[in-house]
Amino acid sequence: MHFDIWTTGIATVPVECLILGVFEEGELTEEARAVDAASGGRIGALLARGDLSGKIGETLLVTDLTGTKATRALLTGLGPKKNFARRAWRRALSAALTAVARTRIASVALAVTRPGAKELDDYYLGRAAAELTGATLYQVNDLKTGKKPKAAALDTVLAGPVRRAGAAAARRGLAHGSAVAYAMRVQRDMANLPSNVCTPSYIAEQARAIAKGVPTLKVQVLDHAALKREKMGCFLAVTQGSEEPAKFIIMEHRHSKSAATVVLVGKGITFDTGGISLKDPGAMDEMKYDMSGAAAVIAAVGLAAELRLRLNVVGLVASCENMPSGKAIKPGDIVTSASGQTVEILNTDAEGRLILCDALHYARRYKPAAVIDIATLTGACVIALGAHHTGVMSNDDALAREIISAGLRADDRAWQLPVTEEYAEQLKSNFADFANIGGREAGAITAAAYLAKFTQGMKWAHLDIAGTAYVGGAHKGSTGRPSPLLADFLIHRAGR
Ligand code: BES
Ligand code: MN
Ligand code: ZN
Repeated sequence: MHFDIWTTGIATVPVECLILGVFEEGELTEEARAVDAASGGRIGALLARGDLSGKIGETLLVTDLTGTKATRALLTGLGPKKNFARRAWRRALSAALTAVARTRIASVALAVTRPGAKELDDYYLGRAAAELTGATLYQVNDLKTGKKPKAAALDTVLAGPVRRAGAAAARRGLAHGSAVAYAMRVQRDMANLPSNVCTPSYIAEQARAIAKGVPTLKVQVLDHAALKREKMGCFLAVTQGSEEPAKFIIMEHRHSKSAATVVLVGKGITFDTGGISLKDPGAMDEMKYDMSGAAAVIAAVGLAAELRLRLNVVGLVASCENMPSGKAIKPGDIVTSASGQTVEILNTDAEGRLILCDALHYARRYKPAAVIDIATLTGACVIALGAHHTGVMSNDDALAREIISAGLRADDRAWQLPVTEEYAEQLKSNFADFANIGGREAGAITAAAYLAKFTQGMKWAHLDIAGTAYVGGAHKGSTGRPSPLLADFLIHRAGR
């Protein structure tokens, strides 16, 4: 894919198709007006006929255009003018790129007036262009035999309009956007694979493959014996019912000794049956996505290296299956975590927090400026926030705000839930330091309250992506979230 910007007059942009915006009120954007004038009112005539309503998601391909070097235009609806902001602009571009991907058009110029430089500067224009193109053209790595559907013809995307003064920023945005698209693809490819292919060993291999030949990246994989040496009793408890070997993957992007370190911790349950506290069979296949946090972490560390971010980024991935068997942990079992605290496992289906707590403890040795765990942790978070916002819980409000801002800029939104002390009371146990579940109320928060017991003294945030990392039903698949949010967070931390 070739990305660049366009700065000259719209009539001379050397592409096959211009992407132009039209408001729901029937009003044309600046670039659309220019093309309309050059073509003798062609676009206005189509709108007058009612061929495009201007609603977001609606598009219309105009062919045999005259007066411009491009002989086609793809009109895309921007919705009502008063709601026009970053998100509407992005959705309109997505719809346009999706429509282009169904044609044999090979080159396009994005010429949809931006909602305003404050909403979307030149850098984010470039970033959105590359990222949305990548996301639109993504093809699921299915295991179907027979011919793959033909790839889209699209191979050139020019972002604009950009003034000369903004060209460098826009080009930087394009490079960063390509990296974000790549990170999303890495996450989605891994998460879409079934658990008999995407095992903990497979995830470790992927981390190694990404690091291969990249001088700033280092990967180390701890096996069962090493986990015992690290005394990761909670992680070991989850994996003990499974035949598939567990892996603890350490992936480091090292910028310099003096740079601050961000540690990302990923939940890598390659399949979550619930264990002895067995899940309902309905949609249990979706528990193959329970390693989405791990995939996002590996993708983010890879992105940090690709963009040579001036930051040390460490990815820690705890990966295993959660299975019922004669060797599996049972409700009421008590284990000792790497931190030394004891845990009564009242529900074996609350396994994510068990593997994360030992990984979070491991993070301490890096003296991180911030540690963020990413996990498909609770069904309760899906009930609270649905598929639209990732749940953010933190012991540091500034860090939570930083994450939420990154999500807004990246259009990968997150919403904060409170983790005040009261919630920890729900974790009380008669027999151990605390239990691994806190009852029905505030399930997303009590999971975070459990993790908070292992992160004291560190600036920590927890992202619950159970509702955002994948979609079920007819369009089942990984979404690649929260890779855009993580990328934005790291890029900003490093100083873009
Ligand atoms: N992986 C699940 C959480 C989940 C549920 C992700 C639905 C995506 C969709 C997690 O391991 C789990 O089973 N959590 C339990 C916790 C409960 C036992 C306290 C849950 O949410 O039901
Ligand atoms: Mn579970
Ligand atoms: Zn799980």
